[in-house]
Amino acid sequence: MRAVVVNTPGPVEALEVAETPDPAPGAGEIAVDVAYAGVGFVDTLFRAGAFDFPTPFVPGIEVTGRVRALGEGVTGFAVGQPVAALLNDFGRAARAGGYAEIAVAHSTMAVPVPEGADLARVTAALVNGVTAWIALHDLARLGVRDDVLVLGATGGLGGTVCRIAAVHPARRVIGVVGGEARRAAAPAACTDVVTADGLTDAVSAITGGRGVDVVVDAVGGDLRTAAFDGLAPFGRLLVLGNASGVDASLSGDAAWLNSRQVIGLNVGGTAHLVPERVATAAAAVVDLVHRGVLAEPAPHVLPLDRAGEAHAALEKRTAPAKTVLAVGTPT
Ligand SMILES: NC(=O)c1ccc[n+]([C@@H]2O[C@H](COP(=O)([O-])OP(=O)(O)OC[C@H]3O[C@@H](n4cnc5c(N)ncnc54)[C@H](OP(=O)(O)O)[C@@H]3O)[C@@H](O)[C@H]2O)c1
Repeated sequence: MRAVVVNTPGPVEALEVAETPDPAPGAGEIAVDVAYAGVGFVDTLFRAGAFDFPTPFVPGIEVTGRVRALGEGVTGFAVGQPVAALLNDFGRAARAGGYAEIAVAHSTMAVPVPEGADLARVTAALVNGVTAWIALHDLARLGVRDDVLVLGATGGLGGTVCRIAAVHPARRVIGVVGGEARRAAAPAACTDVVTADGLTDAVSAITGGRGVDVVVDAVGGDLRTAAFDGLAPFGRLLVLGNASGVDASLSGDAAWLNSRQVIGLNVGGTAHLVPERVATAAAAVVDLVHRGVLAEPAPHVLPLDRAGEAHAALEKRTAPAKTVLAVGTPT
């Protein structure tokens, strides 16, 4: 099969298109003929060698397509059926493998997709949607009177968090963007958009000095600290990522004295421990996208052999909110 392979982690040029052996599903797994593979910031970290992944590997942790083959013991799927699958159950195996004509997923990480669904749009929502759903629904226990602040609202994860928070619904969805030039890229689901440099004053003004109930942070650095300081009593800071690469420390005493919670979520590291939670979130996301309730924008679509362009744009912070690679023939 044709795949994008990383033999030696490094810059964008480390992504090489190659012919590789067709993978076969093991026990409990399914093989998927891939129609689309999603591209996320985390893929650039894998490619660059941040996680010490065994080489050679094929990046990509979310795909849609049709079931090609079932491994031993798999029930509930049929060959030829459209599916969406997450490939980031790293507690089971060093997997990934999405940028390829055939991907292998654990069956608990896959959900059926209705015939005729927009597979590019579903692919674009998968990892970010499941992460956002578990974070907002299960962990933050988002309520209708809650104000939510989303750092990195222009990004893939941040954008989906804004849209799921709006559907849930939250009272306010306040999106944080890197600067005035990024304001137009904020999701329409935001009730308010503020720039990173004016975060503290803007949050105080919007919430009448009360602060926000939930912060969703996939950026880290000074923004994380400022957002933590802007939490209302009983507010929850959800730490989902670190696009800035800066791991700012937070004060335990500030959490205690202001009755704040700090909650981390790493879907890839824990998916194998909570398969029902992942499956429920994935089914909810696929259903909401297919019905148009979750208005995920159409992603930027590139052919498989241009994966490097998508990585370069993510690293330069010029990427569209989400890019997917067209791999096989969408049916
Ligand atoms: N917890 C999980 O299971 C999970 C799941 C998915 C993703 N993630 C993590 O979430 C993070 C974001 O992923 P993503 O795919 O949404 O990335 P993305 O599309 O590149 O979005 C990141 C956003 O962060 C903002 N940002 C602020 N400072 C930045 C900096 N110094 N460098 C880069 N971006 C900066 C950018 O918005 P502005 O330019 O407007 O500032 C950008 O839109 C990553 O750390 C990823 O690993 C975690």
